[in-house]
Amino acid sequence: MYVEMKHIFKTFDGFCASNDVSFGVKKGQLAALLGPSGSGKTTILRMIAGLDAPDSGDIMIDGERVNRLPGSRRGIGFVFQNYALFRYMTVAENIAFGLQVQKKPKNEIRERVDQLLELISMPDLGKRYPHQLSGGQKQRVAFARALAPNPQLLLLDEPFAAIDAKVRRELRGWLKDMIARVGITSIFVTHDQEEAMEVADVIILMNRGGIEQMGSAGEICGNPRTDFVRDFIDAGRYEDMKL
Ligand SMILES: Nc1ncnc2c1ncn2[C@@H]1O[C@H](COP(=O)(O)OP(=O)(O)O)[C@@H](O)[C@H]1O
Ligand SMILES: [Mg+2]
Repeated sequence: MYVEMKHIFKTFDGFCASNDVSFGVKKGQLAALLGPSGSGKTTILRMIAGLDAPDSGDIMIDGERVNRLPGSRRGIGFVFQNYALFRYMTVAENIAFGLQVQKKPKNEIRERVDQLLELISMPDLGKRYPHQLSGGQKQRVAFARALAPNPQLLLLDEPFAAIDAKVRRELRGWLKDMIARVGITSIFVTHDQEEAMEVADVIILMNRGGIEQMGSAGEICGNPRTDFVRDFIDAGRYEDMKL
């Protein structure tokens, strides 16, 4: 397992946001944390990222217990919905940001930025500013920025939530493809069942701070283990029918 959460508990003012959460994600896998709003998905992601600490339990990354390791040293890249691009920086400067923090040599930064602009199919847009980009392009830049320092683990929190339905579909396929191409272990938060089913190798279905079921889309749909799982899947199907 590349990431392993072992018996994680986390409370906020007595409210239990993570209730004995245990799961593992294998190297190179794309896992989705799926569940309704308030089920504790972001809390899990923030603890892996080192932005919050669990009350108890172990967070393992690549075989090492990282509970006491600062987030900046965990080899993680983020694409968070509220981690917007820097407005006064160009696309290239946004992508270069993490490398500049690491004080990499200028020519190395330039090369890496060019390579990432190629990867996200925006080779000529490095000089633009965020307000000159579409929503989908912005998220692609956010993805490139997260990948720039070569993280071993990518965390994405509802990365497409603010984007309209049609572009969102395209971006999903694009993201899955990119992650496979880069080969990076990734954990992706969504409340959208269809999104999880389409993108993830493995789904971790959460409810009230706990895990209801973990498995592939086929396993979960074919064999829902609790009433909650069955209802959640049925509700998702109903949402699809409305579109
Ligand atoms: N910093 C915080 N302070 C107090 N309560 C919090 C905090 N962060 C999360 N919570 C609570 O924990 C629960 C789970 O939140 P969250 O992990 O953000 O859920 P999700 O991402 O699944 O919507 C929610 O009830 C939320 O209000
Ligand atoms: Mg959330």
